[in-house]
Order: sequence, then structure tokens, then C-alpha cells
Amino acid sequence: MNKKKFIVIEGINGAGKTTICNYIIKLLKNFNIKNIIKTHEPGGTPIAEKLRKIIKFSQGEKISYKTELLLIYAARLQLLDNIIRKNININWILSDRYDLSTYAYQIGGRNINKKNILFLQNFIKNNIKPDIIIYLDVNPVIALQRINNKNYDRIEKESINFFSRVRKYYLRIAKKNKTIKIVDANNKLKNVKSSVKKIINKLILV
Ligand SMILES: Nc1ncnc2c1ncn2[C@@H]1O[C@H](COP(=O)(O)OP(=O)(O)OP(=O)(O)O)[C@@H](O)[C@H]1O
Ligand SMILES: [Mg+2]
Repeated sequence: MNKKKFIVIEGINGAGKTTICNYIIKLLKNFNIKNIIKTHEPGGTPIAEKLRKIIKFSQGEKISYKTELLLIYAARLQLLDNIIRKNININWILSDRYDLSTYAYQIGGRNINKKNILFLQNFIKNNIKPDIIIYLDVNPVIALQRINNKNYDRIEKESINFFSRVRKYYLRIAKKNKTIKIVDANNKLKNVKSSVKKIINKLILV
């Protein structure tokens, strides 16, 4: 109960990550856990937020997959050094995306060779692992319908095929990693929340 945990929420665009992060904060507060650092990737520091804007909205300039990858890692290092390393074990940390997103999007979605990701992980010394990752698994058709009332950002404009590859890679890793809990996010929000609640209760009480 006393140990501070690092919780990550993952899933494709429109899976419900932000909604579930807000719900988790509520659950933690019900357990009287108040010292929670809520963050997201890419972003979470002033510089990383600027990089997030560039990653999401390239203002008409083409961004190559490799540039995208490097921008993500620059943002991640800012977050790691300035927020996560300083708060781990002192505060609870809840992050809307973390490095699993890079495996799913850049390797699964963009077909970048895994060895480049492993090099960058090592280069930025990304050695802080979450205690738990909740992966919200959803069919891309359903996910994109959920966000179709807003202006799509650069990534959200990708094809269903792209998101299917990302989803497949998420599932591939999730199935062989005990830290990752798969939640069926095709379901009604009420049911998704109930699955998440069980996972969080267990994390806190066990
Ligand atoms: N299980 C669900 N069923 C129906 N609607 C949902 C469900 N989960 C979330 N939503 C709704 O779908 C929309 C997208 O959810 P949300 O913004 O939480 O997704 P996200 O994963 O954070 O997306 P993004 O990756 O674009 O930030 C919101 O309007 C939210 O209320
Ligand atoms: Mg979101």
C-alpha cells in the first residue's frame, strides 16, 4: 500500500486512454492517494510539449519516420530526466502513453527496425519501467469513429491499415509481458471502467 506505483495507459488513438486516466485519478483519490503526477507522452515538460505539437501538427512540412522517432525520443528524455526520475518512488505517476507506444507505432506502424529503438532506449537510459501498463485494446474502426468529431492530427489521419498494424504489435508484446494488462476497450465505457477498477484495486491492495 505504501509503495508508490508508476502506471501507464496505452492503446491506439481513440481507445479511451485520456478518459481512463481521468477515471484512474478518481479511483486513486478514493483510496486517499493524493500525490499523483499525471503526465502524457509525447509531452509532459515545457520543451516536450513543444515537441508534441510538432509531432502532432507538422504545419504542412513533411516529417520523415526517422525525424518523428527522434522527436519522440527527445521529448521522452526531457520527461524522464525532469519529471519521472525525480518523482519515481516519491509520488505516484500516471502516464497517458509511454515507451510501449514507440514499439507499437514506430516498429509495428512505421516498420522501423527494432534495433534502432533499442539503441535509442539505451542511449537515453530508459531504464525506468512501469509497475503496470493497462493496454486498451480496440478495433481501429471503432476507435476512429470515437474521435471523428474533432480535427484529426497528423497521426490520426493515418489509415485503418496503419492502426491495425499498431494494434497487432501492441497485442504481440502484451501477450508475452505480465506487466501489461489487456482490457477490451471495444466495450461500453461502463464495462471498460469496471475492468480497470479491478486492476487498480488489485494493484493497490495486493
Ligand atoms: N469505451 C468507450 N465507448 C464509447 N466511447 C468511448 C469509450 N471510451 C472513450 N470513449 C469516448 O471516445 C472519445 C475518445 O476517447 P479518449 O479521448 O479518452 O481516447 P484517447 O485514447 O485518449 O484518444 P487519443 O489517442 O486521440 O488521445 C471520447 O469522446 C470518449 O468519451
Ligand atoms: Mg488522449
